[in-house]
Amino acid sequence: MKKLSKLPRHIGVILDGNGRWAKKRGLERLSGHEEGAKAIERLLSCAKKYHIEVISVFAFSTENWKRSKQEVDGIFEILKNLINEKGDSFVENGFVLRVMGDVSKLDLELQASIKNLIERTKKNRGVVFNLGLNYGGRAEIVRATNLALEKNLKTVSEKDFEELLYTNGLPDPDFIIRTSGEMRLSNFMLWQAAYSELYFPKFFWPSFNERKFVKCLIEYSKRNRRFGNV
Ligand code: IPE
Ligand code: IPE
Ligand code: MG
Repeated sequence: MKKLSKLPRHIGVILDGNGRWAKKRGLERLSGHEEGAKAIERLLSCAKKYHIEVISVFAFSTENWKRSKQEVDGIFEILKNLINEKGDSFVENGFVLRVMGDVSKLDLELQASIKNLIERTKKNRGVVFNLGLNYGGRAEIVRATNLALEKNLKTVSEKDFEELLYTNGLPDPDFIIRTSGEMRLSNFMLWQAAYSELYFPKFFWPSFNERKFVKCLIEYSKRNRRFGNV
């Protein structure tokens, strides 16, 4: 496509609006999360088609535990089903799964499914799907600091520090998209977002599709990244 003069290597997605999408249709919030999971599948197909190297998706934040037990359990159930039902095709399509966040707080069955899929995709060479689960940018920075202290490091460089983040080895997100019109990061990739281009399309996450993805890419290709230069 001519308009796509430059593509982001790494896209971060703060998927938002599942609940409002459902409410607008008179449905339960969990129906919104179910449709949101299907939208993640569409996102991954798009990433593959448009040769994006890394997709980071914020699926559950360290703050999302404040929601009702029913909603929290439902979200993890949907994730478990997604991993179990789509795992094979994920492997066959060359994706690599990574997770950022403290997964030790998740149920053991889900932890096992995640571990298994990470293992099965380790040797793949396709799109990296970096999934944020019980993830918070501040928690990640504190964790990295504690890892440095445990190593008895007296000082660290930015590069040393980056190696202690969940995203070790990944490029920073060039482009961060948050759907539903909210204009905040809500604790997403605080370190890595230092120079990300931000975009806040209005649509609710479950209505994500390829046409909207291309619109995002066009938006990105219009941005002039200066990184402090002139
Ligand atoms: C995003 O949709 C999914 C998660 C945060 C888990 P929301 O559930 O936040 O949807 P809204 O913001 O209530 O519409
Ligand atoms: C951010 O969405 C977290 C995820 C997308 C997982 P929220 O809906 O939880 O964020 P706030 O509460 O509107 O800031
Ligand atoms: Mg929300």
